[in-house]
Amino acid sequence: MAEFRLPPNSRIRKGKHFAAREGASATRRFAVYRYDPDSGENPRVDTYDIEIESCGPMVLDALIKIKNEIDPTLTFRRSCREGICGSCAMNIDGGNTLACTRAIGESNGEVRIYPLPHMSVVKDLVPDLTNFYAQYASIKPWLQASTPPPDNHERLQSKDEQEKIDEPAACILCACCSTSCPSYWWNSERYLGPAALLAAYRWLVDSRDEARDERLDELEDPFKLYRCHTIMNCTQTCPKGLNPASAIAATKKMLAARRV
Ligand code: SF4
Ligand code: SF4
Ligand code: FES
Repeated sequence: MAEFRLPPNSRIRKGKHFAAREGASATRRFAVYRYDPDSGENPRVDTYDIEIESCGPMVLDALIKIKNEIDPTLTFRRSCREGICGSCAMNIDGGNTLACTRAIGESNGEVRIYPLPHMSVVKDLVPDLTNFYAQYASIKPWLQASTPPPDNHERLQSKDEQEKIDEPAACILCACCSTSCPSYWWNSERYLGPAALLAAYRWLVDSRDEARDERLDELEDPFKLYRCHTIMNCTQTCPKGLNPASAIAATKKMLAARRV
C-alpha cells in the first residue's frame, strides 16, 4: 500500500540553533539538514546565524565557516571550490546545484540546505552515490576499438567530430540531474538516469569508438533508457548548463533508426 507520510524515524525534527555573536551586524540564517544514522536519532534541521561580512560569497563558504568556526560535526563533500569536481552537489532552496557556484545572495532570506533528494544519506549532506557510480561504470565509459591505433600519432578526429563530444564530455558527474529526475526517484535500480545516459551518448557520438552497436544493444531495454519520459528536470537543473534530456532523445532516435 502506498505510504504518504515518511515513517516516524525519518521525520525531520527541529534541531539546534546557533546564534551569531552578540553585536554581530549583518547576518544570514542557514537551515541545514543533519542526520547521523549511527546515532539512532531522527534527522533534524539545525539553524546557524552567520555574520555575512566575515564569510565568502558562496553557500560553500558558509558551510566551511560553520564547520571551521561553529560546528565541526557538520559533514559535507567538497574539493575544487570552482564547479569542476562535482563533489559539493546538494539541494539548496529546493533546487539541486553546486554549493561552490551558488551565491548566498541568490537566496531570499533563510538559505535552506539539504542533501540531494531521494538518495540514502551517509551523514548530513553526504548522499550515498554507490549506485550512481555503478551505473556510470556500467555504460563502459572508455574508448572501445579493435582497430589498432596509428603507429606515429593518436587516433585523430576532425574539428566537427570533436565538437560532438565537447558538451557531453563536460559532465562533472555531480548527480544533480539524476537526483532531480522523477523517473530516477522511482526506478533508480533499473533506470540508468540522465547522468549515465549522457555519458553513454558521449561514447555513441565519438567517431573513434567502434562499439556503437554493442552500446546501443545494452541500452535497448524498457528500464535502462526508456524510463525517461522527457520531464526535463535534468536539463533544467544541470549546474554546467548541459542537456542530458536532448542526449537521451538522440539516443532513442539512434535506436529507432536501427530498427528501420
Ligand atoms: S528528461 Fe528524462 S532523464 Fe531528464 S528528468 Fe525527465 S525523465 Fe528524467
Ligand atoms: S549532466 Fe550536469 S547535472 Fe548531470 S551529472 Fe553531469 S554535470 Fe551534473
Ligand atoms: S567543490 Fe568542486 S564542484 Fe563544488
